[in-house]
Amino acid sequence: MSLEAIVFDRVAGKCSVKILDQLLLPYQTQYLPINSICDGYRAIKSMQVRGAPAIAIVGVLSVLVECQLLLQESFVKTQTFYDLTQLEKNFNERLDLLLSSRPTAVNLSNAITELRALISEDVKATYDSLFEYACNIIDNDYADNFTMGENGAKHLLEQLDEQNFEGDFGVLTICNTGSLATSGYGTALGVIRSLYARTRQGKEVSEPKKAKKYGSQMVRVFPLETRPYNQGSRLTAYELLHDEIPSTLITDSSISYLVSTSKIPIKAAFVGADRIVKNGDTANKIGTYQLSIICKHFGIKFYVVAPTTTFDANTETGDKIIVEERPPNEFRFVQGTLIDSANAAPVVNEYKIPLKASVGITPLDMPVWNPSFDITPYQHIDGIISEKGVFTKAEDGKFHLETQFQ
Ligand code: MRU
Repeated sequence: MSLEAIVFDRVAGKCSVKILDQLLLPYQTQYLPINSICDGYRAIKSMQVRGAPAIAIVGVLSVLVECQLLLQESFVKTQTFYDLTQLEKNFNERLDLLLSSRPTAVNLSNAITELRALISEDVKATYDSLFEYACNIIDNDYADNFTMGENGAKHLLEQLDEQNFEGDFGVLTICNTGSLATSGYGTALGVIRSLYARTRQGKEVSEPKKAKKYGSQMVRVFPLETRPYNQGSRLTAYELLHDEIPSTLITDSSISYLVSTSKIPIKAAFVGADRIVKNGDTANKIGTYQLSIICKHFGIKFYVVAPTTTFDANTETGDKIIVEERPPNEFRFVQGTLIDSANAAPVVNEYKIPLKASVGITPLDMPVWNPSFDITPYQHIDGIISEKGVFTKAEDGKFHLETQFQ
């Protein structure tokens, strides 16, 4: 099993990039090369790579490898789409294309704004700046994920401590927010990884006092399958199994019943974000809003986990966020891998490649509405966990994130 969504070989002047094709998971591990902005655009739009931080990283790397081509004399002689006398203009047009790939996640848009400032008419200088930027975006995302994980895990364990709660507890999560959606470790799933590391029995944890205290506690994860694209059942389940974190997959429609009947008390929901605007309203995978309503109803803490690269400094409130609508066929058909029910294994061809299948589940002429995201109002959010800390609401019932948006 591979949890490496993006493989970046960072030798300046000879970089290479490949991505794990997430449309084939969990049955097939196949990497695709990214050699140009067009490759990046296609991979992002088709959701071969997905998750706000991973989308931004692949976007940036696609610009870097395209610029690398311009350093090669043979390419420059044969290229048709670049006018090297108008490099800045050409690059900016290509960045517009990339930006149009997926509109809701702000990380790509934030990164593209920063990339535009690095482009000049000098190819070598542009390449050097892009190379440095690409290395930083990956390294910072990776480091921030661990910090967020620790921030979130500590916060919940302190809350449970204040309630004098002891024993095993459950957490909910939606979509995929782990290694596959980021440079590694993850956002909401990173918090869950840190919670597991701190609570699992018989393992060392970083703070000996807490080890004693939480040594008998265990977290159990309930990921939602996340219709219609099933990031929860395909990707989060894959990551949880990989890390051997105790977990049980549930359908999106089982949350209320689980919460009201579970023997293990459900204590929190951790979700990622595609865009957090100035008042704290948050765009995330479709179904997040309804999860927040259920959490509010049952008094379960609801946390958004995202690096500050997911904060949108230009938008005041969530109603201004553009919500991407995906093609109707992503809803009308279940895309999957053929499984032989007799031995519960994928059916493979002569090259041992699992066979893909597309199965219709609606009348084909039935109009459908397929928004990819929804907006959770800040009123439903108990805390926003970032690499800078855990932001909670003040006495006026509002988040005061002003300083995070500078
Ligand atoms: O449509 P997707 O799969 O790109 O949506 C992903 C999500 O909504 C994630 O929860 C979000 O991007 C946070 S990823 C760390």
